[in-house]
Amino acid sequence: MNLLIIGSGGREHAIADCLRRDAPAAAIHAAPGNPGMSDAASLVPIQAGDIDALADFAAEQRIDLTVVGPEAPLAAGIADRFRADGLPVFGPDRAGARLEASKAFAKRLMRERGVPTADHETFDDAAAALDYVDGHEEPLVVKASGLAAGKGAIVCESRAQARTAIEEMMIGGRFGEAGARVVVEEFMRGVELSVFFVADGELAVPLLTSRDYKRVGEGDRGLNTGGMGAYAPASPAAPDFMEQVRATIAQPVLDAMSEAEAPYRGFLYAGLMLTDEGPRVVEFNCRMGDPETQVVLPLTRSNLLEPMLRVAHGESLRGWRAAAEEGFALVTVMASAGYPEGSDSGRPIDMPPFDPEEVKVFHAGTAVRDGRLVTAGGRVLGVTGFGDTLEAAARRSREAAGRIRFRGSHFRSDIGWHELEPARLDPAERALIAVPGHTPP
Ligand code: AMP
Ligand code: GLY
Repeated sequence: MNLLIIGSGGREHAIADCLRRDAPAAAIHAAPGNPGMSDAASLVPIQAGDIDALADFAAEQRIDLTVVGPEAPLAAGIADRFRADGLPVFGPDRAGARLEASKAFAKRLMRERGVPTADHETFDDAAAALDYVDGHEEPLVVKASGLAAGKGAIVCESRAQARTAIEEMMIGGRFGEAGARVVVEEFMRGVELSVFFVADGELAVPLLTSRDYKRVGEGDRGLNTGGMGAYAPASPAAPDFMEQVRATIAQPVLDAMSEAEAPYRGFLYAGLMLTDEGPRVVEFNCRMGDPETQVVLPLTRSNLLEPMLRVAHGESLRGWRAAAEEGFALVTVMASAGYPEGSDSGRPIDMPPFDPEEVKVFHAGTAVRDGRLVTAGGRVLGVTGFGDTLEAAARRSREAAGRIRFRGSHFRSDIGWHELEPARLDPAERALIAVPGHTPP
């Protein structure tokens, strides 16, 4: 068996480990991959955006399955190209990737299908967007419609801030083309939760739930990042909750895509806001979350290669379920100096060995220079701790992160606080997340 993983982050490292576990004898390639993945895969120096070179490589090597990690190549049509060339690929085609690549498209689809989400309007014209702001309650959220590396949503406490955000995007060119069209939406109060499905074009099968921490600083302060940590499973993970999310959120999207003759095949990620009116969609992504993958996949006991192969061959997932390991995982992301506004590279990384039953370090922004592991990006490492309890997983993750050293490193020591320190939640939030093993104070 010959497998190819496209991408180079912590998510792709976690996918590589998962495929290695499911196919111990396979030849696994990663393009371009990262140094941490070289235990599980051989690295191929082709960038994730070079679709022609990737398709040529997959054809030459007779790749049996290509798994696409990041959104950009999916939005650029890598899966369409592979399918046209008869190459088995796991990931949605360009039409499906619009769920992430065009917030305007995703919002329209949700409105048409009655999927619960924030009230919104889409604008191509700044004056009309500014008018809309004048007629709506604060706070408001202004979003670039296109891909903006997770940084295109601005939560605005006041109308004045919303006006500034609109002017920066639509007139000032912040986010470039991605911000030429904006979505202005209602601010939803609640607690966020990430849910993931494996979709075969018709059915959506849930994986574990996770909660990620997007702000750079402890106490959820500071700028938005790609994600500074996550844990899984997150409550409420009760089967009836996931069934409600599947039926009211994932299924209507799959139905709409298949009626449009663009069946959605791949991972479907819904970022939810748990509100007092039930779960509502913050955003869809056409891929797994990062860092959430670094806790969700290691805890998933089921073989994932088999459903991915089925989906890549256009077969049904009927009868497949993702069984989860007992226990918890929590990942702490270690970032380089300046992240998220910038990043720092070339700093040597000192890392002791860890017991793989307790701690697994996923690489993201790393490189090998002169035989040494060095930093090479904003998010450098994801340090995942495992435990029978969330407390144990958190302790292992944080202790391990404290023992890894590189100049300028920073990480959050409060990942998982929603369940580890529920006293920090206000009573309304506490009611929204069913926290097992904790009696609300
Ligand atoms: P997005 O890029 O759409 O995922 O938004 C990034 C972050 O902004 C989300 O994870 C939320 O924390 C916040 N956010 C986005 N939209 C809303 C909304 N309508 N109400 C409240 N928070 C939001
Ligand atoms: N952790 C958020 C994302 O992957 O978009």
